[in-house]
Amino acid sequence: MNLIKTRILIFGCNGLLGQALVKYYSKRKDVELHLASIEDAFVGNHQFTYTKVDITKRNEVKRLIMDFVPDYIINAAAYTDVDGCEVNRELAWNVNVNGVKYIVEGCRIVDATLVQLSSDFIFDGLNGPYHENDKPNPISYYGRTKFASENEIKIGGIPYLIIRSNVIYGSQKGVKKDFVEWVVENLSQRKKINVVTDQINNPTYVEDLVNGIALAIDKKKNGIYNIGGLELLSRYNFACKIADVFELDGGLINPILTEQLNQKAKRPLKGGLIILKAQTELGYKPHTIKENLFDLKIKLGLF
Ligand SMILES: NC(=O)c1ccc[n+]([C@@H]2O[C@H](COP(=O)([O-])OP(=O)(O)OC[C@H]3O[C@@H](n4cnc5c(N)ncnc54)[C@H](OP(=O)(O)O)[C@@H]3O)[C@@H](O)[C@H]2O)c1
Repeated sequence: MNLIKTRILIFGCNGLLGQALVKYYSKRKDVELHLASIEDAFVGNHQFTYTKVDITKRNEVKRLIMDFVPDYIINAAAYTDVDGCEVNRELAWNVNVNGVKYIVEGCRIVDATLVQLSSDFIFDGLNGPYHENDKPNPISYYGRTKFASENEIKIGGIPYLIIRSNVIYGSQKGVKKDFVEWVVENLSQRKKINVVTDQINNPTYVEDLVNGIALAIDKKKNGIYNIGGLELLSRYNFACKIADVFELDGGLINPILTEQLNQKAKRPLKGGLIILKAQTELGYKPHTIKENLFDLKIKLGLF
C-alpha cells in the first residue's frame, strides 16, 4: 500500500534552523521534502530536490510553490543580522516582510499551511518573558520586520503557524557563528570575552525547536506558539554554563551591561518566551541547557 506523504517545502534550508529541519525530516518516511535557499546548492549531504530561490523574487517564489504544491511551507529564510537590519533597512524589509508576503500569496494559491519563524525581538523587553498573546512593541528594525511579517500572515487568509523562538544555538555547516560557538572558540584560545548580564532569554537548542515545529505540524495546529528553551537566564550565566560544560576557563568571561556594547540595534533586555502553551498543547519537551550543551559538545567532536 502506498503511504500518502505530507509534502513539505523548506525555504532557508541552508541556515542554522533550515539544516536542522532537513536532518530531522530526512528520517521521516511519511514526508516528501523539497528544499530551497538563496545559494546555488544545499550545503548538507542529503539527496533532496533543491531549487535556488531568492524569496524577494515574487515570481521565483510562486513558481516553485505552484510546481511542488506543498501541504506545508516552513519559512526559515530571513535576514537575521540584527545590527545589519538597522542599516540595511530596505533589504531587511524585502527579505523579512515582502518575502513572507510572496510566500503567503503562494500558500493561498495551493492551499498550503505556512509555518513562519518569528522572534521575541517583536517585544520591547520591558517585562518578559512573554506569552503568545502579549502585545508586541519592537524596538529594533529587525524586530519591526518580524512583527510586520506576522501581520502579513495574519491578514493573508491562509492557515498558518507562527513559531516564535529566541537565541537559537546548535551546530550546522557554514552558518554564521552562534553564541555557543563564539564563547567556545574564544575561551579555547584563552581570549577574554565581554558578556552582558542584563539580557535575559530562554536560549533554544535548534533540535528542541525542530521537535516543537514538527509536533505543531503533526498535531495540525494553527496560530502562534512560543518554542523556547527550558531555562530563563542572563547571557552571562549562559556563557558560564557553556564554559562549565566545555571545561573552559569561566574566569575569562567579563560581565558587562548591554549599553556598554554600543550596538547599532537596541536589544530587548527582559526578553524570553513562556512555553507553557507548547508544553500543554503540543507535548513539547525541551531538554535542559546542560543536556543540550553536552549533546552539542559530542556533535562538535569536543568530548
Ligand atoms: N537565530 C536566532 O537566535 C533566532 C531567534 C529567534 C528567531 N529566529 C528566526 O528563525 C529563523 C531561522 O533563523 P536562523 O538562525 O536559522 O537564520 P540563519 O542561519 O541566518 O538562516 C537564514 C537563511 O536564510 C537565507 N536567506 C537570506 N536571505 C534570503 C533570501 N532573500 N532568499 C532566500 N534565502 C535567504 C540565508 O542565506 P545567507 O546566509 O546566504 O544570507 C540563510 O541561509 C529566522 O526567521 C529568524 O528570524 C532566529
